[in-house]
Amino acid sequence: MKPRRSKPQGPPRTVDLTITEVGARGDGLAVAGGTRVFVPLTVPGDRVRVRVRLGEAKGDGVRGELLEVLEPGPGRGDPACGHFGTCGGCTLQHMADDAYAAWKVGLVRGALARVKLDEVPFAPLARTAPAARRRARLAALRRGKRVWLGFNERLSHRLVDVAACPVLVPRLEALLAPLRAVLAEVLPDGQGCDAVLADLEGGVDLLLVGPRTIDLAARERLVAFAESAGVARLSWQPDDRGTAEPVAHRAPVVVRFAGVPVVPPPGAFLQASAAGEAALVAAVLENVGSAGKVADLFAGLGTFSLPLAQTAAVHAVEGDAAAVAALGRAVQGLRLTTERRNLFEDPLTPKELARFDAVVFDPPRAGAAEQAKALAGSKVPLVVAVSCNPASFARDARTLADGGYAFKRVYPVDQFLWSAHVEVVGVFARP
Ligand SMILES: C[S@@+](CC[C@H](N)C(=O)[O-])C[C@H]1O[C@@H](n2cnc3c(N)ncnc32)[C@H](O)[C@@H]1O
Repeated sequence: MKPRRSKPQGPPRTVDLTITEVGARGDGLAVAGGTRVFVPLTVPGDRVRVRVRLGEAKGDGVRGELLEVLEPGPGRGDPACGHFGTCGGCTLQHMADDAYAAWKVGLVRGALARVKLDEVPFAPLARTAPAARRRARLAALRRGKRVWLGFNERLSHRLVDVAACPVLVPRLEALLAPLRAVLAEVLPDGQGCDAVLADLEGGVDLLLVGPRTIDLAARERLVAFAESAGVARLSWQPDDRGTAEPVAHRAPVVVRFAGVPVVPPPGAFLQASAAGEAALVAAVLENVGSAGKVADLFAGLGTFSLPLAQTAAVHAVEGDAAAVAALGRAVQGLRLTTERRNLFEDPLTPKELARFDAVVFDPPRAGAAEQAKALAGSKVPLVVAVSCNPASFARDARTLADGGYAFKRVYPVDQFLWSAHVEVVGVFARP
């Protein structure tokens, strides 16, 4: 029977525990009196003193607060950042590098084991160095004269004011201080916004997603900020569903895939690091090989479509209208067609898929349940699945395997450094 979550009961107790493993969210796991206790910032082998409210032993587990590491386990390392421990941006800086890399691969293996597909050969983990994250979404909040700009504390809405971030590329890290200063002038007191930063060819692309429109004075202040801080394009969007409006556009912003320039809409999806993108693209190209007709589903701005279109005829399908339009404007001279389509509600059918020699799909975290079912009923010889969520990837892999595909190889890619996220590429072929 699947364990149910239980509310912790009883007064808090202090207990000494030994951490046996690190769970999928990056917290160490120990067992106390039959209850699973998740303890952040610990590694296997740690002997720790923990404050915990132990409930009945029927839930997934309870959360323990680490009071002291009594004896460190063998996989401990030194955090790279002074904010580590409070900032929720990173979960695993306290792990030694080898243990961290093994844990990331284990996330993928564990998810595949749950659907009995972990016998597949694994490629080595592709790594991303510090200072390589080129796209990030931060939150800001103004209270009085002060602005907090950074990431939320773990499991909390409280913001950590981030002065430095060793994960971000230097150009984005350097923007934190001037951005904080200008937000203290343009945000109304008590209000906040999100800042979506992307380091592109041409400069930084900055999208501010705020609670309301901005007045003329704030707009002028942001234009001056863009000039002095070297921001290439600055846009403001009233809320997550609103339309981004340009505030400053000092230089063309471009992202290139296989050398083809694409002008992304403000806040567009991009793989988190150039190194991560390169590893994903290499795995896709290596396996698609010489296939002549390829469908790229959940294509975004063409991260895979444009490299694939150097040798194949590609049909790129994507739900976001602005992304489809941006890719459509970039494809001159290539055998690349685009289609806007909601692939959750309206996946390509087995009949539509019949004309392709290979299909690549790269859905959001929820995965591509319906599209995987349609592929399972198709005759497409080769499917390459890209994913940022091992759990939905495993579910979709199981669907493909049940539809007769042989699961050939899996490529784990770590581009969300020190987080509990990992990317995967899986290769499936009709025998
Ligand atoms: C993980 S991103 C991958 C994009 C692209 N393959 C890349 O690597 O840059 C997922 C993409 O799926 C798109 N998407 C989300 N929901 C969708 C849906 N229901 N139908 C079609 N596309 C969708 C998003 O707009 C986004 O571009």
